[in-house]
Amino acid sequence: MFTDIIKEATLQYHQQTEKILVGKMKSMRSKQDYVDLLNYFYGYFGGLENHIERYINASNLADYLDRRKTSAIADDIEALGAAVPDLATDEELPVIDNYLKAFGALYVIEGSTLGGQIISKMIQQHLHIEDGKGLSFFNSYGDQTEPMWTSFKEILNDVAMTPQDEQIIIAAANETFAKFKVWLER
Ligand code: HEM
Repeated sequence: MFTDIIKEATLQYHQQTEKILVGKMKSMRSKQDYVDLLNYFYGYFGGLENHIERYINASNLADYLDRRKTSAIADDIEALGAAVPDLATDEELPVIDNYLKAFGALYVIEGSTLGGQIISKMIQQHLHIEDGKGLSFFNSYGDQTEPMWTSFKEILNDVAMTPQDEQIIIAAANETFAKFKVWLER
């Protein structure tokens, strides 16, 4: 299945991204540090979603609106008393000029909901957040995270119709990870 291939093909970048984030979480001492982390996600995912939605909408992904993350991140930043930062610029983002590349980028965003569950638990413990305030983005779809991921993978398998499509989606996913890594290391 294509989703097995893309998982393998992006594994190295996933590991690198995970390592950077775990490092950031371990050095987190205050709510401001957490706001800084949310700001990274807001700027990058927010810019990316604007590009993605030129090619993906309810016509090719029925529940696309439910999968948008930017407003949840903004709500979290505001719940912690901060203001949202600027979005990443075009040069800081992967090139998304067709729907296949948009699906490659969305694969990275949707996959982050799986790690998000782990991240939210780590932050909750680390910063002793008891009311869950400011954790909506990393909690992602809550107990629906697994079914939402499964249904996204089914669509992705249908979208990739030829080996050439598969290569375009994989390259876009890897570029999305690569530029996020640069963004996180700024
Ligand atoms: C501390 C940070 C992170 C941890 C601990 C983590 C952990 C995980 C785990 C446990 C899975 C599920 C693996 C499986 O079911 O086999 C996963 C999948 C995934 N994660 Fe992360 N993750 C992190 C950050 C991120 C971030 C920031 C992104 C995107 C920017 C991301 C993208 C993905 C993707 C695309 C998948 C799906 C892989 C597949 O195709 O099955 N992860 N992650």
